[in-house]
Amino acid sequence: MATRHFLTLMDLSKEELHAIIQRAIALKHSPSLSTDPLKHKTLAMIFEKASTRTRVAFEVAMNQLGGSSLFLANSDTQLGRGEPIEDTARVLSSMVDFITIRTFDHAKLEVFAKHSTVPVINALSDDFHPCQLLADMQTFFEHRGDIKGKSVAWVGDGHNMCQSYINAAEQFDFELAIACPEGFEPESWLLKRTKARVRIVRDPKEAVKNADLVATDVWTSMGLESESALRIKQFTGYQVNADLMAHAKPDALFMHCLPAHRGEEVSAEILDAQHSVVWEEAENRLHTKKALLEFLSR
Ligand code: CP
Ligand code: NVA
Repeated sequence: MATRHFLTLMDLSKEELHAIIQRAIALKHSPSLSTDPLKHKTLAMIFEKASTRTRVAFEVAMNQLGGSSLFLANSDTQLGRGEPIEDTARVLSSMVDFITIRTFDHAKLEVFAKHSTVPVINALSDDFHPCQLLADMQTFFEHRGDIKGKSVAWVGDGHNMCQSYINAAEQFDFELAIACPEGFEPESWLLKRTKARVRIVRDPKEAVKNADLVATDVWTSMGLESESALRIKQFTGYQVNADLMAHAKPDALFMHCLPAHRGEEVSAEILDAQHSVVWEEAENRLHTKKALLEFLSR
């Protein structure tokens, strides 16, 4: 059987994704449901960018499932010194059971996966953050039940998180309205593929109107720091705050993958408001990682 990878949400079927969410919920309530299924298995983690949640969730997940993990900072590996991706993929996959990579160029992940004999998991690229969406979906299902047919508003940058929400709209069958300034749209091929479910609007109030969920992310993603001052200007008016949330449904949830910049993309008040679920969303990174690793180990 071909090796299964998880580079985007489109790598799994709708049924598989829903099963992972349900398994994550079950594992959260009864961790003992899973006793050491990954005993003697190892996850290699290559990180070319900083991380708190993703790294810790992977390490704790492997530990709780009876396996172990190896953190490989880019600067300490031969990959970081220019060893070809293909060679690194071949060598690492001959020794470990899973590989997760946080990188810039999504194409690097694709090349890596092509030459790996074990599952490769996207821990964030400039294009997608599928592991985060598993946690976001778990959090929605826990609070509001099935997200099918619901309205979701994305406010902010059309970057990796937004693009993963677009895939999620397709895989979990919800309507997505994206409010972003001109020039910060998600990629056009992705919008074209999902036009039945996803629309771009300029006015954040229009996007959040009647939304069941409002989500955002930083205005300056990792790797784009030199554009920060310019972005703060260009994203003016795109902050999720109490005024904006007043246009969503009264019980609309608020999500943010974190880390957050209070006073930029979100007000401090909304981050800790009654319907903000950002802390559970972060905790669910662990439960969904466990369910994903279990699934990929089959
Ligand atoms: N949300 C997220 O991926 O957080 P980290 O960058 O801390 O891993
Ligand atoms: N869009 C952010 C997500 C961080 C988890 C970034 O790429 O930096």
